[in-house]
Amino acid sequence: MTAPSNYLQHEHQPIATELPETAARIDGELPRGLGGLYVRNSPNPQFDPPGRYHWFDGDGMVHGLRFDDGRASYLNRWVRTAGFEYERSHGAARWRGILEPMSKESLALPGGPLKDTANTDLVFHQKRLYALWWLSGTPYELSTKDLSTLGPQTFSGQLKGGFSAHPKVDPRTGELCFFDHSIVRTPYLRYGVVSAQGELLHVEPIELPAPHILHDMAITEHYSLLLDFPLGWDGSRLKQDGKRRIGFERGTPSRIGVIPRHGRAADVRWFEAESCYMYHSINAYEEGDTIVLTGCRVRDPIPEKQETSGRVARLDTIELVPTLHEWRFDVKTGATRERQLDDLATEFPRINDGLQGTRARYSYNPRIAPRAELMFDGLVKYDLSTGTRLATWNAPAGWYVGEASFAPDASRAGEDAGWLITFGTNVAERTSAAFVVDAASLQTLATVHLPQRIPLGFHSYWCPAS
Ligand SMILES: [Fe+2]
Repeated sequence: MTAPSNYLQHEHQPIATELPETAARIDGELPRGLGGLYVRNSPNPQFDPPGRYHWFDGDGMVHGLRFDDGRASYLNRWVRTAGFEYERSHGAARWRGILEPMSKESLALPGGPLKDTANTDLVFHQKRLYALWWLSGTPYELSTKDLSTLGPQTFSGQLKGGFSAHPKVDPRTGELCFFDHSIVRTPYLRYGVVSAQGELLHVEPIELPAPHILHDMAITEHYSLLLDFPLGWDGSRLKQDGKRRIGFERGTPSRIGVIPRHGRAADVRWFEAESCYMYHSINAYEEGDTIVLTGCRVRDPIPEKQETSGRVARLDTIELVPTLHEWRFDVKTGATRERQLDDLATEFPRINDGLQGTRARYSYNPRIAPRAELMFDGLVKYDLSTGTRLATWNAPAGWYVGEASFAPDASRAGEDAGWLITFGTNVAERTSAAFVVDAASLQTLATVHLPQRIPLGFHSYWCPAS
């Protein structure tokens, strides 16, 4: 009998209740101009997981907070994926998680040995909200009215492969750039673009030398950046005994593929950089002949000497000490320059999405708490050009928070004219709230008390009412 994962307890303890939209009590004052739906995806297993649980395994549950003229109301729903419905009809979990070996039975499950949980990310494109999975699943469309699952989006049957978490919406053209990756079938990577009208324009297979776990991408005005960091499942082990052993290829360079927005595989230019892993990029932009990429980079995700203090966040064997980093790729010479911009551990970074792909000065990064599980105890506002911490917001004592989406304030000008919204949980008080923070000053404007405790989660999105 294995001990239950810490990612099923305390701040991460799942819930079983789906609440219809319910008015929330507010401390402070919500800005009148804040109108729309803040949504956050979270792993929240419907049934007790058989075997060892990894935080990335749980069924997707989306929490929403609607803001309207100074009021707020909360609702939450599981994403009704095919796997969720299959297990519901059987009354128990049928899939095992990524820490368990693949079995013969798991290979016979509909959709394969890992369940597409749609638990990772959310994107709002063409006024349609999608829940997405980190291992490239099917985008599941959710209703912004009640978060019910409307069904899989296959773009009129054109989407033949998967669609990963972390596609990027270009705010200028309205296009949605995405990637699809696999660690078991070739091509290991595909890159695609959905038009501003919602049509799948093209999907391009991209050769990779080895199957790696690609988590995020980035865009600039003319290019997309494909991020191939040398971390993956040991393929021979997977074939041999079905076990997914994660490995970091310390000596293998990181590879960043730069592809024109509508380019073909032959157009990709690969830049090498120091070996590392990165879950999340912050932004990218063009500066003359240089492409600049920023993100939260982990220098050595699986160090030979493992940290045992309990004050470093871990995801199974991966140590999460991500720091602000900048890469500069010279498209004329093919050279890469890179530098660490700060030494504070932060993750789940966000910018004003209206600047995605162009130069943005600010990012808003949750600060990693000194705990063994990944959780955040504040927000840091960075100047991305220097790595300077411009301001810090501390979560109240006993509270841990997550990713903060940026909601722009149309009545003011400036990159940081808007509000940051994040969900937080206080496990001692068994309660949760949303914090609404001014993005310019990082002062708390309002605390919105949710009608139930919710676990910490993954990614969030701001869906404006207008
Ligand atoms: Fe992510």
